Amino acid sequence: MTTLSQKLPAEVERTEQSSGPAGAVPSLAPVLAVRDVRIGDRSAGREIVHGVSFTLTPGRAVGIVGESGSGKTLTCRAALGILPAPFEITGGSVEIDGGDIDGLSPARWTGLRGATISAVFQDPASYLNPSIRVGAQIAEVVRVKKGLKRRAARRRAVELLRSVHLRDPELVGSQYPHELSGGMLQRVLIAVAIAAGPRILIADEATTALDVTVQAEILDLLADLRERTGLALVVVSHDLAVVAQLCDEVLVMRDGEVVEQGTTEDVLHRPRHEYTRLLIAEHQQYGLEKFLAPGEDA
Ligand SMILES: Nc1ncnc2c1ncn2[C@@H]1O[C@H](COP(=O)(O)OP(=O)(O)OP(=O)(O)O)[C@@H](O)[C@H]1O
Ligand SMILES: [Mg+2]
Repeated sequence: MTTLSQKLPAEVERTEQSSGPAGAVPSLAPVLAVRDVRIGDRSAGREIVHGVSFTLTPGRAVGIVGESGSGKTLTCRAALGILPAPFEITGGSVEIDGGDIDGLSPARWTGLRGATISAVFQDPASYLNPSIRVGAQIAEVVRVKKGLKRRAARRRAVELLRSVHLRDPELVGSQYPHELSGGMLQRVLIAVAIAAGPRILIADEATTALDVTVQAEILDLLADLRERTGLALVVVSHDLAVVAQLCDEVLVMRDGEVVEQGTTEDVLHRPRHEYTRLLIAEHQQYGLEKFLAPGEDA
């Protein structure tokens, strides 16, 4: 089985860098620029995603919401250079840290994934090797991507498990994936994703499968990483409340189209598109009101 570390290897400790607290760094150069990206299905000869644009500076977070099949995951995969066949980028551009990803060699991608751009998806168990202790899996990422010796990598793995607020990180590190709960696994996956100190983290429905309490803890963790390390986030969620809590900007997608885009405040308080209004109405019953209350800390 391919582990996440092999797919998306990972650097750490951006803590002391220049980015400062979340929301306070609008003038920094974008770490991720997605410009009018179009994604096509080569086999069917049709376009699936019809132009998505956003830029992300350190410490900022952009959310992508929209119905199932609207192209959220394909957009993320395009930015990560892992679009599955038969899909391909057919227009526009993606720049990571100022460099266009078009025509990047596999070796350059290996250098970027994990160390610059990383991702957490739903279903953490499928991204971990079931027969290797989770601490060893994280240590391997650190060893490969950061060049740490075996023993230092093990220590670093424990620190990473602690940094994702797992109690008793030594014990967790010695366990196999099947011994951990969904919430713990999701934290382990975040630890793997941040092990090489990426500047961009894409969280695609990363909390969807979790119960409300665990979901809230994971969201706090992402917000904390963002503030402490200047991590830039792309947050994909069905749940507007998740995006309201974490993101500065929101894109609303429907059927491969961005139907509305703006600051979280504008899109959620003053939606212009009927579909956005519908999404908001759907979410009201789940307590979105509390995120929409004026003046409240999101
Ligand atoms: N591996 C795949 N094989 C075939 N079709 C796919 C594949 N991945 C995505 N698609 C199709 O591409 C379109 C966009 O899918 P995508 O996964 O990006 O949607 P999404 O917005 O992430 O949906 P969800 O909210 O359900 O995760 C959909 O029509 C989907 O059926
Ligand atoms: Mg998806």
